[in-house]
Amino acid sequence: MKRGVLPALRGGVSGVLLALGSMVAVAPAVAQVRLTPADEALAYRNYTLNCMGCHGPAGEAVAGKIPPLGQALGWFMHSPAGRQFAISVPGASNSALSDEELAQVTNLLLLRFNQAELPPDFQPYTADEVREHRRPALKDVATVRAGVIAELRKKGIPIQYGY
Ligand code: HEC
Repeated sequence: MKRGVLPALRGGVSGVLLALGSMVAVAPAVAQVRLTPADEALAYRNYTLNCMGCHGPAGEAVAGKIPPLGQALGWFMHSPAGRQFAISVPGASNSALSDEELAQVTNLLLLRFNQAELPPDFQPYTADEVREHRRPALKDVATVRAGVIAELRKKGIPIQYGY
C-alpha cells in the first residue's frame, strides 16, 4: 500500500498545481461565478416556460428567424450597451418574468452556454440592473443590434452580424 500511495500523492500534488496554474491563466474570474443548483434549476424552468418555445433547449439559432443565445450572447457582455440590449429585446423585456427571474434566466444562459465568450471580469445581472434597463422594450431591434455589434467588432470581438 505505502509503496503505491506515496508516488501517487506526489504526482497528484504537482498535477493539482499544474491544473491550478492553467486555470488561473485561462479564466480567472468567470470560472468563479456560479448559480446555486437551486437557482439554476428554477432559472432553467423559467427559461423552458417563457423562452424555449422560440429559442430551443440550448439557445440554438433558427436561420433567418431566431438569433443564437448559446455561444453568442456572451459576446454582448463585453459592452454596457450589449448588456442593456440583451435584456431589452422584446422577448426578454416583455416576458412575464420578474426582474429577479429575468436576471437569473439571462445569467443561466450566459454561464451555461457562453463560458468561452464571456469577458474575464463578467459580473452576473442583478434584479436592480434588470429593473433599470429592461424597459422600454426595443422597437427597432435590428438597428440597435447592428450598432452594438459594430462597436464590439471595433474592439476586436469576433461576433457575427446575421443569423
Ligand atoms: C415568440 C418568440 C420568442 C420568445 C418567446 C422569446 N424570444 Fe428572444 N428573441 C426572439 C427573436 C425573434 C429575437 C430576434 C430579435 C427580435 O426580433 O426580437 C430574439 C432575440 C433575443 C435576444 C437577443 C439575441 C441577439 O443576438 O439578438 C435575447 C437575449 C433573447 N431573445 C432572450 C429571450 C429570453 C430570455 C426569453 C424568455 C424570457 C425570450 N427571448 C423569449 C424570439 C423570442
